Amino acid sequence: MRVAVTGSSGLIGSALLRELASAGHDVRRLVRRRPGAPDEVQWDPAAHSIPADALDGVDAVVHLAGVGIADHRLTEDHKRAVLDSRIDGTTTIADAVARTDPLPVLLSASAVGWYGDSGARVVDESAPAGSGFLAQVCESWEGATSVARQAGARVLLLRSGLVLARKGGMLERMRPLFRAGLSGRLGSGKQYWPWISLADEVGAMRFLIESATDVAGPVNLAGPTPVTNAEFTATLGRILHRPTTLPVPRFALRAVLGEFADEGVLAGQRAVPTVLLGAGYEYAHDTLDAALRWAID
Ligand SMILES: NC(=O)c1ccc[n+]([C@@H]2O[C@H](COP(=O)([O-])OP(=O)(O)OC[C@H]3O[C@@H](n4cnc5c(N)ncnc54)[C@H](OP(=O)(O)O)[C@@H]3O)[C@@H](O)[C@H]2O)c1
Repeated sequence: MRVAVTGSSGLIGSALLRELASAGHDVRRLVRRRPGAPDEVQWDPAAHSIPADALDGVDAVVHLAGVGIADHRLTEDHKRAVLDSRIDGTTTIADAVARTDPLPVLLSASAVGWYGDSGARVVDESAPAGSGFLAQVCESWEGATSVARQAGARVLLLRSGLVLARKGGMLERMRPLFRAGLSGRLGSGKQYWPWISLADEVGAMRFLIESATDVAGPVNLAGPTPVTNAEFTATLGRILHRPTTLPVPRFALRAVLGEFADEGVLAGQRAVPTVLLGAGYEYAHDTLDAALRWAID
């Protein structure tokens, strides 16, 4: 198959390129810089600009591009950049999908933040959108795919959990804190963190393209056993051989992370992957312990 990928230089995108190549698929990278290889096509999401033939001959499009949400404090400027980059990019890709004949399948990134802070309530793909900035971003981001769906394309909305990777992502930010002994639960520790290993994140995307061809709409990309932050902390501490007895209080997190503390780490979702399990996906890492040991190996 031929698969076009946006945001391919990022954490998930670069792993997806390896996953697709290992399965023998052809990849076309949509890049924002000047193309440097025959498989690259330049697009400019901020200007809604993409070549008319960018998706010709493409079976699937995986759209991952967007400003990193946790890269900066959630100032008004950063919030605007996070939202605009997602709406502009997704609208541009959805329009291009809708114009392409035959229609490719569109897998468009979103996040479990869609559900807001859902406490201990189990949320699957049928749960309604939550409230807060991140939930609003996800709702607008997913809504920006509607042109492709209205044109008849199969559209999947990938509501990813916290991606656990060997290099990069949240885990890389947490590891130095743990090594320095700043490794207690965050706030009450009762908030659920829906984790997924990077191997399963991209493995599930490949599965949805290759095998689960009747699946459309939202798909929670999260491991089958979400855990509370307290359980996450204890498991990571055990694997890194670090104590996790000193909790990090809310005010300290807010001082360091600003508003992202409230919505990003002190809030949570007990998100379960009902659609993925129903479609028959088999996880490489189906427990947090397995995912962390793989990532930290
Ligand atoms: N990592 C996670 O735990 C996680 C969890 C839930 C959801 N997600 C979502 O999944 C997607 C991919 O995540 P990731 O962790 O791979 O992100 P990432 O490492 O930050 O990569 C995102 C990519 O988006 C492109 N990009 C950066 N700034 C942009 C801008 N202003 N406009 C358009 N594109 C821009 C870049 O690719 P190019 O330079 O190649 O264009 C960048 O490599 C993101 O939308 C993210 O919000 C991630």
